[in-house]
Amino acid sequence: MKTNIYLKIMFFSLLLFIFISDCTRATLRERKTENFCQNWKFHLGDIKNAEKYEFNDSDWRALNLPHDWSIEGNFSEKHPATPGGGALPGGIGWYRKTFTLPETEKDKLVFIDFDGIYENSEVWINGRYLGKRPYGYSSFRYELTPYLNYGEKENVVAVKVDNSHQPNSRWYSGSGIYRNIYLVHTDKIFVNHWGTFITTPEITEKTAEINIKTDIRKKLEENQQITLKTTIYNTEGRKVANITTSEITLKDSVTPIEQKILVKNPNLWSVENPYIYKAISQIEREGEILDDYETTFGIRYFNFDSEKGFLLNGKQVKIKGVCNHHDLGCLGAAVNTRALERQFEILKEMGCNGIRTSHNPPAPELLDLCDRMGFIVMDEAFDVWEKGKCEFDYHLYFKKWHKKDIEDMIKRDRNHPSVFIWSIGNEVIEQWNKEDSSGSVLAKRLTSIVKSLDQTRPVTSACNSTEPSNPVIRSGALDLIGYNYSEEKYANFLETYPGKKLIAAETNSALATRGAYDMPSDSIRRWPPRWDLPLFDGNPDFTCSSYDNCSTPWGSTNEETWRIVKKHDFISGMFIWTGFDYLGEPTPYDWPARSSYFGIMDLAGFPKNGYYFYESEWTDKPVLHVFPHWNWDEGSIIDVWTYTNYDEVELFLNGESLGKKQKSEDDYQLVWRLTYTPGTIKAIANKKGEKPLTKEIKTAGEPAKIVLEADRSQINADGRDLSFVTVKVLDDKGTLVPYADNLINFKIQGEGVIAGVDNGCQTSHEPFKANYRKAFNGMCLVVVQAKEKCGNISLEATSGGLKPATVNIEVK
Ligand code: GAL
Repeated sequence: MKTNIYLKIMFFSLLLFIFISDCTRATLRERKTENFCQNWKFHLGDIKNAEKYEFNDSDWRALNLPHDWSIEGNFSEKHPATPGGGALPGGIGWYRKTFTLPETEKDKLVFIDFDGIYENSEVWINGRYLGKRPYGYSSFRYELTPYLNYGEKENVVAVKVDNSHQPNSRWYSGSGIYRNIYLVHTDKIFVNHWGTFITTPEITEKTAEINIKTDIRKKLEENQQITLKTTIYNTEGRKVANITTSEITLKDSVTPIEQKILVKNPNLWSVENPYIYKAISQIEREGEILDDYETTFGIRYFNFDSEKGFLLNGKQVKIKGVCNHHDLGCLGAAVNTRALERQFEILKEMGCNGIRTSHNPPAPELLDLCDRMGFIVMDEAFDVWEKGKCEFDYHLYFKKWHKKDIEDMIKRDRNHPSVFIWSIGNEVIEQWNKEDSSGSVLAKRLTSIVKSLDQTRPVTSACNSTEPSNPVIRSGALDLIGYNYSEEKYANFLETYPGKKLIAAETNSALATRGAYDMPSDSIRRWPPRWDLPLFDGNPDFTCSSYDNCSTPWGSTNEETWRIVKKHDFISGMFIWTGFDYLGEPTPYDWPARSSYFGIMDLAGFPKNGYYFYESEWTDKPVLHVFPHWNWDEGSIIDVWTYTNYDEVELFLNGESLGKKQKSEDDYQLVWRLTYTPGTIKAIANKKGEKPLTKEIKTAGEPAKIVLEADRSQINADGRDLSFVTVKVLDDKGTLVPYADNLINFKIQGEGVIAGVDNGCQTSHEPFKANYRKAFNGMCLVVVQAKEKCGNISLEATSGGLKPATVNIEVK
């Protein structure tokens, strides 16, 4: 009886084996894309012969990518990056990875795709030089096939990264292979790199015409006959259309094929409904599938109108966007999808619907998230052209590389439904020289390169010279005139530029430190910009007041900019400088400050008050926000502000009413000026037909305990996923202590590591990679990263004299 069961098991196992190996055989010819970020070796500093195959890297540090070595360093004003570049070290670094390939791969092609290396990367495979790529934000590919070993003989990829020539950036760049790498295996006939371009030229309620251009590459001498089959799937994975083009003869190395398909009842992509379709392009030869290439895209139509602004699917949409640099706070430049997603979740909650990738091509993951979450992206190529802003920036490479870099950006990004505007540059120096025609020539050249690859989106350049004499504007090359600042000139835009279209490419540059307040709240305004006034002369503690009363002289407060943008339909939208504080550019200060004050959120991602200003203006959620904190010197005069989208607010101090204030269209905040006595500030907001909203702010006692709040209590066991744990210092009654700066120590156990710590303080010189952090104005942050095994993580926070806290996170 038993033997019988064993026989049966063996028989079915054999069948299963045959089935599996058959599947493997069938898919072998098709494309395989593997993430190639695991198990690299790293050496900080230059080292001779490290590109050589035989080089012994056994004593190098083992790590996984993406990796940014600058963020692991210590702050110093002496680093050549300067505080403007984040005051962290640069230098030269080497990476090597050893791998094998099975003999069965021999008839395939193998490519290595880099999403981004900062900067000046050089790559070798088995000692053979593949090339150099100066621009740190470009994605690029090398073919490895001719130099590979198969079977037991190993292969070695070596990458040299040179970020030693500094300053080369006006913000923190990070250093290293800070984005993902993929190894791509294809047949000798395959869809070329970034080889599809999908557009939707005709859309009605009933049908959408989908135009698909596919570049088929052939790395074989003789002509080939193939069939190209493209199938469209909806988000639910259902097939909605397909087209087959047969008898294609491939003669040249690249053959472009155009196909048109109709999709019935299209589900249009929008900010509220970011609906994604997928096209699968299959190349077949004599019944055999040679390639299988996936492109995600959206169906939507839009235009910019000189009177109505931006219209998406026929509906007016004001672009309420932010600019961001690419660093992820304490994680540095090393891209992490969850960290980006968290930023976008915070922005969405605030009512933001746009992202400007200032001032460079972003990580591909950023655009995937914008596609999926519904953001309108202004995708930007450069911060400089031929004339530089710092000694070693991209102007050194522009002449030789601009064509390749901008082409690669457009080809890589043009299928993203979230991308609506191409920007060819930010505040380029060429805009200022009216006599010199180079600004015009370059604007025309860059625009024509963009148009040769995509005619469906407008081109802009972000200009802080808004005069018609600006050669970049004068060139006539721009579809959208991009204003940076100059808010006082918006109202006259159509008189200056009749019939033209305006995007406020960069606005605000308001300054704030979370939890810092300068009284009186109606002082230090910088509106309209007054160059005759001294620059904000700063506070001794290097803070900027967060009453929306502090801005650069070229910028303006949240209230002032939004007032104008909101008023005029022809202003298609705005991109606020910036969504999040970033490392570097600590305007208006210098060292010891080392990160920016511009963010609506601080570097740790904690909202400053501006967040609630926008939430009250940009969302329909019931909003009532009251500030400042309620711990002051007895008898001081304190301004209490509320942001709300309700009709009126009544304020109480220790139970006594201080009166009601009504909101009008023009009031963004309601303000009470009080003489401070400790106790409780209570605000009650009313709106007709709605339940009242209540908020209380209490005087905090001494720090007594810690609380930990994880944004996610379950994360994936993929070695990348994150939980952001907010650490708060409370008094014994549970009120946040607004000045608490206790040093908190962390202990992590189980299947996770601490990926970074921060507190949003612009002058902190504590390292980001540590198991301790001082609280700043009552709060700090621990970023917990999953290992690759399922299990639990326990994070404990302790501090002398405070009741400790523990949080548990499950790794699945
Ligand atoms: C702008 C510039 C940004 C940033 C900002 C600070 O002029 O485009 O990169 O420097 O100023 O206010």
